[in-house]
Amino acid sequence: MKGQERVFSGVQPSGAQVHIGNYAGALKHFVTLAKHYETIFCIVDLHALTSVDESKELNKYIESLAAAYLAIGLDPKKTIIFRQSDVPEVCELAWYLACEFPLGLLERAHKVKDSRTKNVSINSGVMFYPILMAADILLYRAHKVPVGADQKQHLEMARDVAERFNFRRGDIFPVPEPLIDENSAVITGLDGRKMSKSYDNYIGLFEDSKSVRKKVMRIVTDSKGVEDIKDPDSCNIFQLYKHFSSTDEQQELRQRYLAGGMGYGVAKEEVFKVIEREINPLRQVYNDLIKRPNDLRDVLADGAKRARVIAQATIADVRDAVGVGAKL
Ligand code: TRP
Repeated sequence: MKGQERVFSGVQPSGAQVHIGNYAGALKHFVTLAKHYETIFCIVDLHALTSVDESKELNKYIESLAAAYLAIGLDPKKTIIFRQSDVPEVCELAWYLACEFPLGLLERAHKVKDSRTKNVSINSGVMFYPILMAADILLYRAHKVPVGADQKQHLEMARDVAERFNFRRGDIFPVPEPLIDENSAVITGLDGRKMSKSYDNYIGLFEDSKSVRKKVMRIVTDSKGVEDIKDPDSCNIFQLYKHFSSTDEQQELRQRYLAGGMGYGVAKEEVFKVIEREINPLRQVYNDLIKRPNDLRDVLADGAKRARVIAQATIADVRDAVGVGAKL
C-alpha cells in the first residue's frame, strides 16, 4: 500500500453500456490501482442528470455500471463501490465550494464555451458540473484521481477549489493529483475519432461476440491493397490492437504491416481475437451479475454505508470551517 493514500474516481451512468474505450482508458486501470491504494469508485448519477432524463433508464444504467465494476475484477470488500446520490452530503459540500469559486472560471469550461459558440442552451447543471465533481473528490479527501485526458480541466478546477478553500477556511482538503495515463487517455473509435457514445463509433464492453466482430469489421481504414506496405501508427485497427495486446504481439503485427502482403481484413481478425481473449471472461461474469439486481443493490448499499462514514466526518469539519450548523 502506498501509505494511506486514497484514490477516487467516478464514471457517469449515462448509457446502457460502458464501451471498450471506457474500459481501456479508465476501468482497467482502476483494478491495478485497487491493488496499491485505498480506492473508492463512484457511479455518478447526479452528474448523469445533466444529460439523462429518463428515470427508469437511469436505474438500468446504474445497475449496468455496478455490474461492470464487479465484472472487471474490483473486489467490493476492498474497494468502496457506491452510487453518488446515496451520499447526499456531496450536494451540501458542492454548495460551500460554489460559494468560494468565481463564476468566471466556470464560464471558461470547454463545454460551456462550446455551447456559447454553437448557440445551444444548456442547463445550469452543466455549468455547475465541475463544482459537483470537485465535491466528489474533496468529500472523500482523495489524494489521487485517475481520469481520462478529457477530464484534465475538471481536475484543475478541483485543485483550484481545494486551494481556495484551504487558504480561506483552514487546511481541510488534500489537493488532489490527477493520474492521467497518456498512452491510454484517448481510445480511437471505429471511425478514427475518439470513441464515444455520442459519435456512435464505439464497441460496447459486454456486447456479444458476434456484434463485436461486426463492429470490428466496420473499422475505417485507408484504401491500400493487400500487397501494399501499411503504416501501423496511422491505422485505426492497430491503435485498438495496442490496448489489448502484449508488446511482443504488437511488434509482430507491426512487422506484418510493414512487410506488405497482409490485408486490413486480416488485421481486423487479429484485433477481434485479442479483444475477445480479454473481454470474453468478463462478459460471462457480467451477464451473470446483471441477472441478480438484488445482489448489485446490496453491494451499492454496503458501499454507500462505508462512503457515508467518510463523508460525514468531512462535512462536519467543513460546516465548522464555514460557520454553519453549530449549536446556537
Ligand atoms: N466527469 C467525469 C467523467 O465524465 C465523471 C466524474 C464525476 C468524476 N465525478 C468525478 C471523475 C470525480 C473523477 C472524480 O468522466
